Amino acid sequence: MKIFSGSTNKPLAGKIAKLLKKPLGRLEIHVFADEEKRVRVLDKVLGEDCVVVQSTSTNADINYMELFFIIDALKRNGAKSVTVVIPYLGYQRQDHVFRGGEAVSMGVVSKILEAVETNKLITFDLHSSRIPELFSIPVLHLSALPIFAKTIREKHWDDDQTVIVSPDMGGVRRVKILCGLLNNMPYMAIEKNRDLKSGKISMEEIKTVTKKRAIIVDDMISTGATIVKAAKLLRKKGAEEIFVFSTHPVFAGNAPLLLQESVVNKIFVTDTISISREKLFPKLQILSIGEMIAKNLRR
Ligand code: R5P
Repeated sequence: MKIFSGSTNKPLAGKIAKLLKKPLGRLEIHVFADEEKRVRVLDKVLGEDCVVVQSTSTNADINYMELFFIIDALKRNGAKSVTVVIPYLGYQRQDHVFRGGEAVSMGVVSKILEAVETNKLITFDLHSSRIPELFSIPVLHLSALPIFAKTIREKHWDDDQTVIVSPDMGGVRRVKILCGLLNNMPYMAIEKNRDLKSGKISMEEIKTVTKKRAIIVDDMISTGATIVKAAKLLRKKGAEEIFVFSTHPVFAGNAPLLLQESVVNKIFVTDTISISREKLFPKLQILSIGEMIAKNLRR
């Protein structure tokens, strides 16, 4: 097996390669003056099973194109199979038509991945469990929830002082799975409404939090608005300590600043997306999905 990394998440790709005791494969990625890219594979891949790691967060378009070119280069050079590890699958929130006239962007991406002859996709905590149905290649949909459960246990937060919270009704399934991993801890959900045109969110009143500690669980943090609003509401309802567990640190715009200045005590995310140095902040802690991916590639 040969492991290659696109430009977006080299630390995670390096971790996976190290765990599998393999060197990272060599690629030449040249960016022209007009920002077009030329991708060239430098290792022999004839007859090899290849793995490409690439997160497709900001800028999703550029990062997807680079990935398509890497897959094409590997296939043209005789790779037997190409498994793509896209820990954060960009465009996943556009998986169906919300308002008449819209494109299904996730469906378009799935068609391109198949057109360049991708053999398998490994990804994490998709926004909807139905997204794999948009692909006709095998999709291994992994979850960071077991990693979150382990951390919550290690911190001794799995006690009767804690409630797990979904910041929207769509996340209840996710929260129920986490509670199941933690001896059926209690959970609650906030009702969030998003204006489909402006993207602005509002949150409905929830039952009073009778627990001292609230743990908000979400698939991703983009602008931070969901977490900041939910935390404010929970504090108003009596939560003294608020923690957040979210798989994908998309961190658009000034999300890091908003999160640092929020009433949240600590925010746990994973390395599905590599966070640039300027976006790190004191309340943030990063957990790794590297071992889980390596384990699945070993099989
Ligand atoms: C939405 O349904 C998702 O689960 C997240 O809650 C959402 O994408 C977070 O976005 P933001 O951080 O911009 O509120």
